[in-house]
Amino acid sequence: MRIVSGMRPTGKLHLGHYFGVIKNWVQLQKEHETYFFIADWHALTTGYKDVRALQSNVKELMVDWIALGLDPSKGVLFIQSRVKEHAELHLLFSMITPKSWLEWNPTYKDLKYNLLRLQDLSLQIKGALRDLVKEFLGMLPYKITDFERLEERLLDDLSESLIAGIFEGELEPDILRSLNVSKRDFYETDTYGFLGYPVLQAADILAYKGEGVPVGEDQLPHIELTREIARRFNHLYGEVFPEPKALLTETPKVPGTDGRKMSKSYNNAIYFADSKEEVEQKIMKMFTDPQKLRKNDPGRPDLCAVFTYHKLFTKDKEKVEEIRKDCEAGKLGCVECKRTLLKDLEEFLSPFRERRKKAESKADEIMDIFIEGSRKAQEKAKETLSQVREAMNLG
Ligand code: TRP
Repeated sequence: MRIVSGMRPTGKLHLGHYFGVIKNWVQLQKEHETYFFIADWHALTTGYKDVRALQSNVKELMVDWIALGLDPSKGVLFIQSRVKEHAELHLLFSMITPKSWLEWNPTYKDLKYNLLRLQDLSLQIKGALRDLVKEFLGMLPYKITDFERLEERLLDDLSESLIAGIFEGELEPDILRSLNVSKRDFYETDTYGFLGYPVLQAADILAYKGEGVPVGEDQLPHIELTREIARRFNHLYGEVFPEPKALLTETPKVPGTDGRKMSKSYNNAIYFADSKEEVEQKIMKMFTDPQKLRKNDPGRPDLCAVFTYHKLFTKDKEKVEEIRKDCEAGKLGCVECKRTLLKDLEEFLSPFRERRKKAESKADEIMDIFIEGSRKAQEKAKETLSQVREAMNLG
């Protein structure tokens, strides 16, 4: 099976990325033809304003991928923006993709949901202004042929201007606060490129005629859209594309150090780039069962992120069971429990950390790997694009 997947360059990789994505990719590389790429163009769909970190994020990601075991001799590793065929295919797909497919995409709809709250506000504003507008129109020295339509048009324009005024800070900020829509959401994400995010993703996959796409559940609507675009293309111009399937794998959930989902934005992540000391500090500060205040209080391991880590990193499974029993019996204190964990966690992390350091010192070589990968990817994408051009009678 030919497998394609990508990752946006948003910074260093943490344990959650490894268990959720990379470990699976490393396995797939052994069994299938794989194309894995850094989706730097996708990073721009929301992060186009501040691009200062883009290049360094791409480089960090390359280093992390190699350190975590992705192997350029087993599959193609590349950078999206180096293969311009993605852009051409995106453009051609955009011609055949109904706007409604994109507007109904849940990711986009989430945003529209926010905008719907604006819809309510807009109705309120119109209600409050209607009489005034009627009066105003009545005072005009012109003969009005369609009073109602003109009234509606003015009300639309006025409410739109007022809403823009709210986001521009020309009205009291309390209104903005109660709206639950930030200025950033309002302007920054409502772009043509963001609407077309899934079309670009379809191009990423179909440029290689990908058949399997390992992704998280949140990406399912995007893969469904890819299938619809492939189907529509084949129907219009003849069979060129397969209909790719999402490959969902059960991956263990890795909580962050505060028990919530591990995420950069929660500031609760353990990174492969962290030093031994940084990891130690993070673990020693971890949240445990809030009811276990003293060493001798019984704890509830199933509610404790430290215990989840033991299940992932402590190799001796009997020891894990012993930790459970001792914690529940109030015989094991959290500090000691964390100290035991640290030993096994370090054993897991230190080989990656070493490889990461080595990779970092060979940044030029790593770049060459991805340039060479991009060349290979482009060869394949070029084949597909010439079939596409032919099918669409572009010569
Ligand atoms: N949208 C994906 C994410 O945010 C990243 C991505 C871009 C991708 N293009 C892709 C994933 C193509 C799979 C296939 O995780």
